[in-house]
Amino acid sequence: MQTQRQKGSGSELAAVVAAAGGRHRTATEFVEAALKAAILEGRLPGGTALRQEELAEAFGVSRMPVREALRQLEAQALIDFVPHKGAVVTEISAEDAADNYAIRRALEPAALALSIPALGPEDFGRARDLIAEMDTDPDPGSLGELNRRFHMALYSRAGRAKLLALTEQQLAAADRYLRFHLAAKGREHLSQDEHRALLAAAEARDVAAAVAVLHAHLDRAAATIAEFFRTRGG
Ligand code: NI
Repeated sequence: MQTQRQKGSGSELAAVVAAAGGRHRTATEFVEAALKAAILEGRLPGGTALRQEELAEAFGVSRMPVREALRQLEAQALIDFVPHKGAVVTEISAEDAADNYAIRRALEPAALALSIPALGPEDFGRARDLIAEMDTDPDPGSLGELNRRFHMALYSRAGRAKLLALTEQQLAAADRYLRFHLAAKGREHLSQDEHRALLAAAEARDVAAAVAVLHAHLDRAAATIAEFFRTRGG
């Protein structure tokens, strides 16, 4: 699998640069925007190695803006830095995303229902602060992390260590899909109304209502990411 994909992104890159059109405000923005569009549209498929020298040459810029653009793409979960390989386009798939949401749908409502009776004012305060942070934080790279911490704050009193460990693991795995999704669709798709409704139901100790909101929240996210893969064609 590596050999086929490892072989350079050279000719693909030429097409990416050609499709990028006019220059942006800075060289970094130019490189970032062109690569982001190519990754989201599947023109640079998962597993493609992006070498800094090749990128600098193809875009006609120095290495520094290339490095900065790659850093920003990493924050959006569009690329990973892999040891000995460098920047590689993130592997994501419709199947893996659907699997992840199915697992979350099984785990998170169970953790939430167990946790709600034991949640205290400090937990609600933490969840509220995290919603506020998601409203204002300008860095898309940290939204996934804030979302994970918000959800975990509401599950934290479940009193089931393994359930919480599995839940957190799946939330972390979901991070790349959330960030990928936000990079493609914009941050308004973070479903903050659902986060507020979830917190309100938890504060009211209404387990049934909170679980219903969480189901809707996860189902909507799963449907949107499935739609994203459908329209992207893979
Ligand atoms: Ni969420």
